[in-house]
Amino acid sequence: MALPALGLDPWSLIGLFLFQLLLLLLPTTTTGGGGQEPIPRVRYYAGDGRRVLSLFHQKHLQDFDTLLLSADGGTLYVGAREAILALNIQDPGVPKLRNMISWPASDKKKSDCAFKKKSNETQCFNFIRVLVSFNATHLYACGTFAFSPACTFIELQNSYLLPISEDKVVEGKGQSPFDPAHKHTAVLVDGMLYSGTMNNFLGSEPVLMRALGSLPVLKTDNFLHWLQSDASFVAAIPSTQVVYFFFEETASEFDFFDKLRTSRVARVCKNDVGGERLLQKQWTTFLKAQLVCAQPGQLPFNVIRHAVLLPGNVSTDLHVYAVFTSQWQIGGTRSSAVCAFSLKDIKSVFEGKYKELNKDTSRWTTLGVTDISPRPGSCSMGPSSDKALLFMKNHFLMDEQVVGTPLLVKSGVEYTRLAVETAQGLDGHSHLVMYLGTTTGLLHKAVVSGDSSAHLVEEVQLFPEPEPVRNLQLAPTQGALFVGFSGGVVRVPRANCSVYESCVDCVLARDPHCAWDPESRLCRLLPTSMPTSWRQDMEKGNPQWACANGPMGRSLRPLSRPQIIKEVLAVPNSILELPCPHLSALASYRWTHGTATVAGASSMVYNGSLLLLLRDGEGGLYQCLATENGFSYPVVSYWVDSQDPPLALDPELAGIPRERMEASLTRVGGGAGLAAQRSYWPHFLTVTVLLALVLSGALIVLLLSRLGALRARGKVQGCGNLPPGEKAPLSRKQHLQLPKEHRTSCDMDADSNHLGTEVA
Ligand SMILES: *[C@@H]1O[C@H](CO)[C@@H](O)[C@H](O)[C@H]1NC(C)=O
Ligand SMILES: *[C@@H]1O[C@H](CO)[C@@H](O)[C@H](O)[C@H]1NC(C)=O
Ligand SMILES: *[C@@H]1O[C@H](CO)[C@@H](O)[C@H](O)[C@H]1NC(C)=O
Ligand SMILES: *[C@@H]1O[C@H](CO)[C@@H](O)[C@H](O)[C@H]1NC(C)=O
Ligand SMILES: *[C@@H]1O[C@H](CO)[C@@H](O)[C@H](O)[C@H]1NC(C)=O
Repeated sequence: MALPALGLDPWSLIGLFLFQLLLLLLPTTTTGGGGQEPIPRVRYYAGDGRRVLSLFHQKHLQDFDTLLLSADGGTLYVGAREAILALNIQDPGVPKLRNMISWPASDKKKSDCAFKKKSNETQCFNFIRVLVSFNATHLYACGTFAFSPACTFIELQNSYLLPISEDKVVEGKGQSPFDPAHKHTAVLVDGMLYSGTMNNFLGSEPVLMRALGSLPVLKTDNFLHWLQSDASFVAAIPSTQVVYFFFEETASEFDFFDKLRTSRVARVCKNDVGGERLLQKQWTTFLKAQLVCAQPGQLPFNVIRHAVLLPGNVSTDLHVYAVFTSQWQIGGTRSSAVCAFSLKDIKSVFEGKYKELNKDTSRWTTLGVTDISPRPGSCSMGPSSDKALLFMKNHFLMDEQVVGTPLLVKSGVEYTRLAVETAQGLDGHSHLVMYLGTTTGLLHKAVVSGDSSAHLVEEVQLFPEPEPVRNLQLAPTQGALFVGFSGGVVRVPRANCSVYESCVDCVLARDPHCAWDPESRLCRLLPTSMPTSWRQDMEKGNPQWACANGPMGRSLRPLSRPQIIKEVLAVPNSILELPCPHLSALASYRWTHGTATVAGASSMVYNGSLLLLLRDGEGGLYQCLATENGFSYPVVSYWVDSQDPPLALDPELAGIPRERMEASLTRVGGGAGLAAQRSYWPHFLTVTVLLALVLSGALIVLLLSRLGALRARGKVQGCGNLPPGEKAPLSRKQHLQLPKEHRTSCDMDADSNHLGTEVA
């Protein structure tokens, strides 16, 4: 950081001046990994060759909203607008169309729909909403059918769909919504369809019903207000004796809030047949409870968006995983959370106290346990227990809440759907993997470690333009996730382990699907039979431990030693650009020159690259070091050589392979001989513009007091920071947090893209 020696030629001085100016003009960035909430370690933009996605689309077809995996896992049935498709997904790559049947709404229904002031361009179609496997030979499907829900059986022949005959189409009220914009859910259990959706054209009458099969059709009663008129169903999950429904609605029990939305779990017994004298053709076992997903000291995540059950051993405690958003926006963005709910907890809330509405005060109060036997709402209650049935009419809300465990909280994103699975790591432990789709077409792969906090392995941008993820379907046997959206179906392989090129990167990624194979020196997909020599550390992600020991017998030293040294030839008085790929957003990066940190006077970090203004004697070893998870390693190492005389190589570096490379250079010396390579055009332009701006002023200052001016400059050099936030827009995640301490060292730079856009 020494003040440049006097006696430099004017061009060098101007070069230095420009450098200092650039340092002042560039906004400061915060380093990654310091925040409270997880950030994706790697981001892939659409079209990135490292994460190849295969898109299936079909001319004139849109809204690929409903996905169903065949029992053998080789076929994906897709419900699109006015069509149902069978896709062969057995081979990697783009799903192949096996066949497709059309199921348009009838012309009569379409004209009725348009007559009722619905759009014939966007709404009056048959949007497929229910697609379930009914038996070995038939699917069951329902659609909005131009605001007149309809259902039908579809026959299968060797996974091919047979055409739908019009006379097989029946009314589907309560099974599919009228309006494609309304939420719905349905699940087939023991040949019966349990569905939750809007039951009328206006979308003001929600219903939870059971249809098909041998038992009576049952519904929720609208008159008894078991459901608020805006109830919006997102999931239905069957359990041994009951079926759970997940939804959100306006809360009625909190009178201190106006229009407070709340998330619920409701439950009905599978053996419910309705009442004999009371509650005829209605549920006699309908109960609901509040679901809570919140972090201490934060606004609750009160709006449930989707929920799934992690299939597993029934004898252990099963969990439901659900994504929530908040009703409130903070700083213009919403945040999301994933919570885990134990089925045991849900069950015990339904066995606890009830709430009761006091008709005079319109307030909900707690009602102690009743002495009615069998217990009202329990699955052993018969259709003729009139006393219990009478009780059930007004006691459908449980007093206690089901409190979930937050696994992941993320601001600035709205998750729409999730899919979960477990992956067995090398250590034999199984790790929960969650795939989360967002409203802007991003996919987050989150892994929950032992202490029930999640880390984000990656973020994949699924579509070129931001649009919501409509549906997710895991196909475990194919090792892929399928994403339905407006334009088609995208296949996303679970992982691409080859993107991690070193053992260090492979281990730091903490992806349970990937491990380092020391023999082939590749990061590879973990096969089901665990090779014991492979390397992974899911708990700690510590490469020092995982990459250094083991059968290869490599010592600790090679990890911090460069694998390869790139030789660059420097020209005096030119700006040299040394790139450093930022492999991980969780790492902090810094540059070293020899053993010292790179001096700030004649260098800066721009978009991760080190820009060096070279003067005599400043060659040598330049290394970009990443520090992640408490572990430092060189990402890239350069040997900057001067033409004349050549530098002697550090004996420490003997034996490391070297390779010559061309680096971008911009000359600032040499008077009229300003030259710039094309790749360096932005820097050159910036330099030229600044040159013009500063030239006159600088020269005057120089003339007036050359020494004084230099000293004054020296005081602010070394990463003179702007006050934080003066130029840089607040990043999204900062809204809830205190302003981070802005960096004090100019070679820390993680958010390179942000920096890049500010300059470009
Ligand atoms: C995986 O990553 C490697 C290395 O970046 C790339 O060459 C390959 O195409 C990728 N494969 C897939 C399926 O994304
Ligand atoms: C919708 O209705 C308008 C007017 O009735 C008509 O001009 C237009 O062609 C219709 N669009 C479609 C897609 O049917
Ligand atoms: C499957 O269900 C359909 C529709 O109810 C019925 O016609 C068919 O016989 C059933 N097939 C089998 C194998 O049970
Ligand atoms: C469930 O777990 C128990 C004990 O943990 C085990 O004995 C049983 O085989 C498991 N069942 C399945 C289907 O995995
Ligand atoms: C930033 O660096 C990356 C690679 O290191 C490069 O692909 C990108 O174009 C650079 N951005 C700008 C604005 O120079």
